[in-house]
Amino acid sequence: MLSIALLLPAVLPAEDVDFLKDVWPILESRCIECHGPDKQKGKLRLDTKAGLFGEDAKYPPVVAGDLHESSLWELINLPADDPDVMPAEGDPLTADQIDVLKRWIEGGAAWAQPEVASSKPDPLALPQLTDEQRKTRDVAMAKLAEQGLYALTVAAGHDAVDVNLSLQRTAVGDAQLELLGGLEPVLVWLNLSGTSVADGGLKSVANFKQLRRLNLSKTGVTDAGLAHVTGLGELTYLNLYGTKVTDAGLMHLTGLTKLEKVFLWQTEVTDAGAATLAKALPGLKINRGVELAAKAAEPTPVNAKCPVSGQEVDAAHFSELEGQRVAFCCGDCKAKFDADPASFAAKVDGFAAAPINDKCPVTGQPVDKAQTVSFEGKTVGFCCGKCKAAFEKEPAKFAAKIGG
Ligand code: HEC
Repeated sequence: MLSIALLLPAVLPAEDVDFLKDVWPILESRCIECHGPDKQKGKLRLDTKAGLFGEDAKYPPVVAGDLHESSLWELINLPADDPDVMPAEGDPLTADQIDVLKRWIEGGAAWAQPEVASSKPDPLALPQLTDEQRKTRDVAMAKLAEQGLYALTVAAGHDAVDVNLSLQRTAVGDAQLELLGGLEPVLVWLNLSGTSVADGGLKSVANFKQLRRLNLSKTGVTDAGLAHVTGLGELTYLNLYGTKVTDAGLMHLTGLTKLEKVFLWQTEVTDAGAATLAKALPGLKINRGVELAAKAAEPTPVNAKCPVSGQEVDAAHFSELEGQRVAFCCGDCKAKFDADPASFAAKVDGFAAAPINDKCPVTGQPVDKAQTVSFEGKTVGFCCGKCKAAFEKEPAKFAAKIGG
C-alpha cells in the first residue's frame, strides 16, 4: 500500500520555517499597515512580540503549537466574503503563505525582533521603560481593575495606558487619583469628565508628564487648578466644557505648544480670552460650541414622515427627543407620541438615538455615533460598520461587553 506521505507535495518541514525570512515578510506586506506602528486596528499590533502572542489579549493571535487556539489562523482561513476575514482589505493570503504560517505555528512559533519601519512617528511614543517601571505599571493597572476602574493599554504590545474614570462619576474625587500612582511614565489619556475632581486633584495630575489627552469637562476645576497643567508639555487635547474656567485660566495654557484642541463650551471664557489663546497657540482649534448653539436656536425636525401616522409632517407640531426635534402630521399624533415616545422612537426616520455605550463592544474603541444597532430596545454604538455587522451576526457573543 502506498504511503500517503508520498502523495503530498514536498514541503519544508516545520523546523525550516524561519520567522524573519519566511513569516515576517507575509505579516509585513499584508498586515502591518493596519496592525503596526502607524495603525492598531482592533487594538492589535503584529510587529511586537506582546501583540503577536496576545500577552494582553483574550484571543491571542498566535499560540505556539496550537493552530486552533490561534485567532490569526482562524481569521486568515475565513471565506473571502466573511466580514472578519484577515487581511481586511485586498486579496486573501495565498495558499503558500497560509502554509508557511501553519507550519510556523505548528512548529512552535519561534520569534525574533523584526525591523519595523514606521512612516509616521508614533504619537504615543514613550521614553523606553525600565523593567521596574513596567512592573510598577502592571501593579497599578491591576489595582485599578480590582476597584472596577477602567485602565487599558492603548494597543496590545504598547506600553501607553488609557484611564477613564468618568464612568464612576462623582464617586471619583481628588483622593481616588492616588490610585494612578505608578502610571506616571505611561499614562497618555485620562478622562475625568463628570467626576468630583477639583483643583486639588489637578495637583497630582501634574505628575503625569506623558499625558496627551485630558478630559476635565463637568468637573470642579477652576482657573487655579489649571496652574498645575503648565508642565504637561505633551498635551494635545484638553476638554474644559462645563467648568468655571475663565480667561485668566486660559493663560496657563499658552506654553502648551503641542496642544491641538481645546473645548471651552459652557465655560466663562469670553471671545477676547479665546482670541488671546488662539494668538499664543496659532495651530490650536478652539471649540466654544458656537455651532451647537446656533443649531439650537433654529431647530429643524429630523424626520419628514410622521412616526405615528406615516403622513407628511407639519413642522408646527413637534416634540423633542434626546435633544432632537421630531415633527408630526397633527396634534393628535404628537399627543400619542408624547404618551409613549419609546415605542415610536424607532419609527422616526433620521432620528439617531444616542448610543448607550461610548466604547465599541467588539474592539473597545470609541463609538462612531453613525454606526448603531437597536438591541433589546436600546441603541448600541460601534466604532465601524464592520463591528456593527459582527455584532448583528452574533449579538450574544458581545452583549456582555456593552458598557453603560
Ligand atoms: C486594512 C486593514 C487591515 C489589514 C490589512 C489587516 N487587518 Fe486584522 N484587523 C483589522 C480590523 C479593522 C480589525 C478589527 C476587526 C473587529 O474587531 O471586528 C482586525 C482584527 C484582527 C484580529 C483580531 C484582533 C482581536 O480583536 O482579537 C487579528 C488576529 C487580525 N486582525 C489579524 C490580521 C492579520 C494576520 C493580518 C494580515 C494577514 C491582518 N489582520 C490584516 C484590519 C486589518
